[in-house]
Amino acid sequence: MLYSEVVMDHFMNPRNVGTMDDADAVGEVGNAKCGDIMRIYLKINNDIIEDVKFETFGCGSAIASSSMATEMIKGKPLSDALNLTNKAVTEALDGLPAHKIHCSVLAEGAIKAAIKDYYDKNGIEYDKNMFKEVDHEHAH
Ligand code: FES
Repeated sequence: MLYSEVVMDHFMNPRNVGTMDDADAVGEVGNAKCGDIMRIYLKINNDIIEDVKFETFGCGSAIASSSMATEMIKGKPLSDALNLTNKAVTEALDGLPAHKIHCSVLAEGAIKAAIKDYYDKNGIEYDKNMFKEVDHEHAH
């Protein structure tokens, strides 16, 4: 079978879908390969991600990846979310087909972009190298 049961579950019943009116940070990235877009909203309190929502104009794998990624960062400190890799998300999904791996990068990128937005809005200093990929994706 092409997709794991976990992928199918998160695709059919995605967690944390929607927008957030009182978000503390929003991150959006586009995928250069397919043109799909991912937007992540974060509610942050004391460096903890209290709530997270996502919207995507993306494929099923992007939906499943974002659903899983939001579950993995909810209730966690920002530092944990910054360390979340698309590899960890893919593993949690029991794998994605090779040609769909780039879809999971979208979720990772949008989370990083949202955290960058939070740092920028609140005047928190950070190492710009942390967000190299985010800027890179915007550049395309
Ligand atoms: Fe575009 Fe999957 S094909 S995100």
